[in-house]
Amino acid sequence: MLLLGGHEYPIVRPMVAEALPEELQRALLTEAEAARAHAYAPYSRFAVGAALLTADGRMVRGANVENASYGLTICAERVAVAAAVAQGERSFRAVAVVGPAGANPCWPCGACRQVLAEFASTLWVVVRDAGGHPCARRLDELLPEAFGPHALAEAR
Ligand code: THU
Repeated sequence: MLLLGGHEYPIVRPMVAEALPEELQRALLTEAEAARAHAYAPYSRFAVGAALLTADGRMVRGANVENASYGLTICAERVAVAAAVAQGERSFRAVAVVGPAGANPCWPCGACRQVLAEFASTLWVVVRDAGGHPCARRLDELLPEAFGPHALAEAR
């Protein structure tokens, strides 16, 4: 943790992300699929499930939660991050995201990429490709040159 102006910021250490075995990618996608069952998406009817893999091997679920005031909708990935942090988890290895079957791969939206980057620049992001197979990309590939805690830390 970095203490700055009385606030604590996580230090995101750049490191080489260890490859995520395909079996683990599949297990995480299965968990995200299960989380999807609890999505609250009456407006878009686009239910999304997410599963975060913590550094110590736990999985934390999230699902999108929409609102009649549409702009207040929270994506599945951000729900998973908030749930994990509230459970004391801040170190993540991967996130899997599953949208409706037959839709395009459900890569995280820009806002979710930013929120994920707060905690893990080297996170693996796993989705299902058109054939239903796991497809993994590193978060720093999906959100290069991200604004993050380091930017605040370097400010004078
Ligand atoms: N959504 C997610 O939960 N995650 C994403 O990565 C993309 C979009 C949700 C938000 C909204 O409830 C619905 O999908 C349609 O945009």
